[in-house]
Amino acid sequence: MPVLGLESSCDETAAAIVEDGRILAEAVRSQLDLHQKYGGVVPEIASRAHLEAVEDLTQTVLTTAGLSLKDLEGLSVTQGPGLVGALLVAINFAKGLSLASGPPVVGVNHVQAHALAPFLYEATPNPPQFPYVALVASGGHTSLFLVEDFLKFQVLGQTLDDAAGEALDKFAKLLGLGYPGGPVVEKLAQSGLAKAFALARPLIKEGLNFSFSGLKTQARRLYEDQRLETLAADSPELANLAASFQGAIVEVLTTNLVSALKQTKATGAVLAGGVACNGSLRETVAKALAALDKPLWVPKPAFCADNGAMIAFLGQKQLAQGHNILSLAAEARPRWPVSDALP
Ligand code: KG4
Ligand code: ZN
Repeated sequence: MPVLGLESSCDETAAAIVEDGRILAEAVRSQLDLHQKYGGVVPEIASRAHLEAVEDLTQTVLTTAGLSLKDLEGLSVTQGPGLVGALLVAINFAKGLSLASGPPVVGVNHVQAHALAPFLYEATPNPPQFPYVALVASGGHTSLFLVEDFLKFQVLGQTLDDAAGEALDKFAKLLGLGYPGGPVVEKLAQSGLAKAFALARPLIKEGLNFSFSGLKTQARRLYEDQRLETLAADSPELANLAASFQGAIVEVLTTNLVSALKQTKATGAVLAGGVACNGSLRETVAKALAALDKPLWVPKPAFCADNGAMIAFLGQKQLAQGHNILSLAAEARPRWPVSDALP
């Protein structure tokens, strides 16, 4: 039976109906235009926008799929991590639907769902094979996992400070490029030279953790010391800085992903999360995996970004095991490591 997935953890409201990895209907409403002028996500505005969108999107996907609530195996909702007020919108909405019509609500972890997104039939031509290494790089998270099964993850590494997407967002804000940073930095970097500025490649010696905050500070110092703010937005110097900054992040992510593959019995790798929309990262990781003769599974960009289908997919796996079915009293989990979300 199909599962309805609902996502409202950050700045995208999304709903989708998925059955056995196939998407029957999906709808996403982005809030980018609401947050852009503030240079980042404003939690209060996000919650209100989710409230305005969630019922509409749910109705849309049910109508598109030709289903009613009674036809669903369950309702899957992002329980965390994310903004608490934003998370509560979809959680409480799902609880209300469940009370009214019966299907159970299951709470899923957003980061875990990203790492499973390539199983969606519409996202990737071939499904991944367990065990695989997953790099999830987004605005809030940068994590490396060994994924042994849908609900069996080992954490291999994570960021000790900023997430990769967060570093790109802050860098873009410094340069006055707008929000979100990833796509605008990528665009500017296309006409720049990644070797123009010798930026650090921050690698943590112990384990496979990441740290991006020093790199961000180094870029800010360069920008201020060299008075780059006086340059026109389309100047080659700024394009060079963007290319160098993006290049450093791509190299660090790729290096740790390759180390993870060498240290484990993984069959191949998954690249996921919003930062995985980045063309340079996709290309660099693909080359590294080809050199190791290992397969790489990267979802189409729409399934790297936040979406309801990945939430429904993971929810269906949890429903099959009766894992984390939410009671009426269940709360949002704004900070929720994947290791705490597993059975
Ligand atoms: O997964 P996601 O949509 O939301 C979170 O779970 O955080 O990721 C959003 C992040 C933002 O930091 C955004 O700047 C980054 O993904 N991003 C990109 C690109 N598109 C989005 N980063 C690099 N290159 C891109 N093309
Ligand atoms: Zn995400």
